[in-house]
Amino acid sequence: MDKISLNIKDVLGTVSADQIKALDTKAAEALAKVDNGTGAGNDFLGWVNLPSSTPASLLDDIQATADALRRDCEVVVAIGIGGSYLGAKAVIEALNNAFDAYIPQPGTPKVLFAGQNIGEDYLYELTQYLADKKFGIIVISKSGTTTEPAIAFRMLKEQLEKQLGKAEASRRIVAITDKARGALRQLATEEGYKTFVIEDNVGGRFSVLTPVGLLPIAVAGYDIKALINGAIEMENATKDANDKNPAYLYAATRNALYQAGKKIEILVNYNPKLHYFGEWWKQLYGESEGKDHKGIFPAAVDNSTDLHSMGQWIQDGERTIFETVLSVAQQRHTLVIPSDDANLDGLNYIAGKRVDEVNKMAELGTRIAHVDGGVPNLQIVIPALTERYLGQLIYFFEKACGISGYMLDVNPFNQPGVEDYKRNMFALLEKPGYEEQTKAIKARL
Ligand code: PA5
Repeated sequence: MDKISLNIKDVLGTVSADQIKALDTKAAEALAKVDNGTGAGNDFLGWVNLPSSTPASLLDDIQATADALRRDCEVVVAIGIGGSYLGAKAVIEALNNAFDAYIPQPGTPKVLFAGQNIGEDYLYELTQYLADKKFGIIVISKSGTTTEPAIAFRMLKEQLEKQLGKAEASRRIVAITDKARGALRQLATEEGYKTFVIEDNVGGRFSVLTPVGLLPIAVAGYDIKALINGAIEMENATKDANDKNPAYLYAATRNALYQAGKKIEILVNYNPKLHYFGEWWKQLYGESEGKDHKGIFPAAVDNSTDLHSMGQWIQDGERTIFETVLSVAQQRHTLVIPSDDANLDGLNYIAGKRVDEVNKMAELGTRIAHVDGGVPNLQIVIPALTERYLGQLIYFFEKACGISGYMLDVNPFNQPGVEDYKRNMFALLEKPGYEEQTKAIKARL
């Protein structure tokens, strides 16, 4: 198996192959809009050919920058939110040892994240933790003005400068931002930070395969060339307007399900390393499709953990859901369940089996039960959690998202809705320039 693969047979009791086929024209038009740049938001299509057009020199520069941070730091804090955070977090968690935080690994800095929330205790505890550490900062913000990362950066920059002095601190800070505009670009120029550019035509949630995701992933010690090569394989596999193209098939199938009343898609994993992949996917699809009062609501569960919390709802609740299951074929390690003479827990019937075999039967049993219960299932088989297959998976979901958004007749590449909370927050905080809104919102309280 050299690629991730998509299996839709377990949706065919809800929508027929003909119903999916009936969307062919719409899916082909949507694919053409993505590939030819003829749809709404076409100035944000820089991600489409990005893997194959990433210069080797850029990857080398990212690797050299990561190596310098790895040499100088015990901890590197990646500061960013949304698309400037979730992709790196998802890939690092998928590849990491689950107990990495507790295992000292000389030569490999811990990659921590900040600026993805405004939790006072989170930031306080981070600054305390960093007090006696050699640390560096990767600050990521396309706009350079997003409140959450700006607060975290202001604090950690001050701390780093106090620890090292301004000149040395500047050598441990890397900024990833717009090529010319924004506060972060200006600051980076003034302070002489090493910088990488987020191109204008790549939106935040499509930016994991740019320096935004690649630098933190390289600092964590993972192979960014293999990640990009995997993405190139999927770029090549998602060009044709037919159901051999997995992104086309996924987009058409989920739209057929949506038309059949399935308004919620749950991304399911059976491997806790994929928790943050679900978070990344929720942003990708939620921000791309949820507009004009339309869009499949993206949710995610971690099984079998969540079978003991959400399992009841999924099996038996309102029949408005479908599932897309991420199924990891090969585990990295082998662990066999031991036999026990007393057998008080009654587990001897599975003694000698691998833990993964039990997990796979939980997965299969759940799939059959959910399909029987009226929850159609798509399955994506991932050969193993490696950089290459994660690169494939990321590009697959990005391409499918563009196609699916156009099939829904929305602009998949803007996010006007996220401005509303910011406007209210700025008015409540009395930000200069928001005087009228401050008066209006305070009158409502
Ligand atoms: O997808 C998006 O565009 C957003 O989620 C942004 O990535 C997020 O708001 C962070 O923005 P910025 O990188 O400008 O700080």
